[in-house]
Amino acid sequence: SINTRCDLMMFGALGDLAQRKLFPALYQLERAGLLHDGTRILAIARNRAGTGEVRRILLEKLKEHVKWHEFDAGVAEGFLQRVDYHFLDFTNSEGYRDLNGWRTIEASNLIVYMATPPAMYGVIARNLRSNGCCDQDTRVVVEKPIGHDLESSKVINDELGEVYNENQLFRIDHYLGKETVQNLIALRFANNLFASQWDQNHISHVEISVAESVGIEGRWGYFDKAGQVRDMVQNHLLQLLCLIAMDPPADLSADSIRNEKVKVLKALRRITPHLMDTHVVRGQYTAGTSDGKPVPGYLEEEGAIKRSKTETFVALKAEIENWRWSGVPFYIRTGKRLPEKLSQIIIHFKPAPHYIFDPDQKHLANNKLIIRLQPDEGMSLQILTKDQGLDKGMRLRQGPLELTFSETFETDRIPDAYERLLWEIMKGNQYLFVRRDEVEHAWQWVDQIIRNWEDSGEPPKRYAAGTWGPVASIAMITRDGRSWYEDA
Ligand code: BG6
Repeated sequence: SINTRCDLMMFGALGDLAQRKLFPALYQLERAGLLHDGTRILAIARNRAGTGEVRRILLEKLKEHVKWHEFDAGVAEGFLQRVDYHFLDFTNSEGYRDLNGWRTIEASNLIVYMATPPAMYGVIARNLRSNGCCDQDTRVVVEKPIGHDLESSKVINDELGEVYNENQLFRIDHYLGKETVQNLIALRFANNLFASQWDQNHISHVEISVAESVGIEGRWGYFDKAGQVRDMVQNHLLQLLCLIAMDPPADLSADSIRNEKVKVLKALRRITPHLMDTHVVRGQYTAGTSDGKPVPGYLEEEGAIKRSKTETFVALKAEIENWRWSGVPFYIRTGKRLPEKLSQIIIHFKPAPHYIFDPDQKHLANNKLIIRLQPDEGMSLQILTKDQGLDKGMRLRQGPLELTFSETFETDRIPDAYERLLWEIMKGNQYLFVRRDEVEHAWQWVDQIIRNWEDSGEPPKRYAAGTWGPVASIAMITRDGRSWYEDA
């Protein structure tokens, strides 16, 4: 903690992200003793208010968003002493001059966090530069969505690129801050057992499911313009796919890892119009139940436009056209209002080349590695053993070699993604952040899918809230002689 003194400017400090995620994460760093004594935070927003008032608001929000048993009034008090508030109209260049007076150390130790709409990134960047608020080492943090498609993401990246070098930019994909997501790197590259099995010779297919039970949560206006592909696939799911599929990096440096991820994105088979029927299913939820309670359909949510064709669910069959993965589909699905919150990756290994057991049990004979990202972080390797008992002969039984992090390692808490990300930003380590070319290749791939939808004019398939998506998504995988893991 000692050598990471920094000044942190938080633009959009009174917004939802800052209040719900960023300040609670900073509070946790404080609680863990990871903030340097000299570190100061300048909360910046467009509301006229004083520091005292903002500290009071932040305290209330911390109480709301930090788990009660992790909330310590003394720690919160100390933490809020670091925070000052500055009222600023982001578009008014002159207002930025005062920011220099606040800084306590040189601009190279400044972190600028833009928790604002992306349309503001360029404006803030230019104003900071023209007022001499930042230098060539200032770290700049931006959130998704980086644009709406490839073109608009280029505009945003160009605007940022006019002021900052790529090595100053920390583009957040909060999935990369999740403990278990990072564990994919450890799992794959620290265990030779898996390293030697990780290709089309040994793996038949891969499943990546990111299911959420929540609906749109008052974000209809934003979500309807995006949809599940832009909101989740372009970033989080493709990042997961990259971490599973990439070649071993030569080291853990940011560029070694990102170079390998980019190679995967470049090798994704384009989903041309004639592949849409077999490779893509999109859905939209109708009224149903969630946690046993009735919930409205997407088109009945508050603020909904009745004819919206925006997808709240998507299932995709992604193919990676390279030596390692040729012929190994990656089935991806993600949606809102599914039965539970569950993110998992399942590696399905190929069956043994020659099978000598009960023919009725042949369907069991492929190992699976199940990586649970949330909840109950852990992994489980499904292996076959002999069923016990004299009367069972050589009947097989499938069972897990199981590792649940909380039990095995007795970890009392797994840090939230934003805690990790903020900590890495303070240390200046970019390996958990997304490089410009990653963003652009990801957009290129999903843009094509979205364009195909728009061209076809087809509405999304319906699924009742509380189910695993449209039946067509089950048909998509059954057609290949497979099933989604829950259905197995
Ligand atoms: C966000 C999306 O990026 O990720 C949300 O905008 C989604 O729509 C969220 O709910 C899911 O994140 P997590 O960490 O809860 O899996």
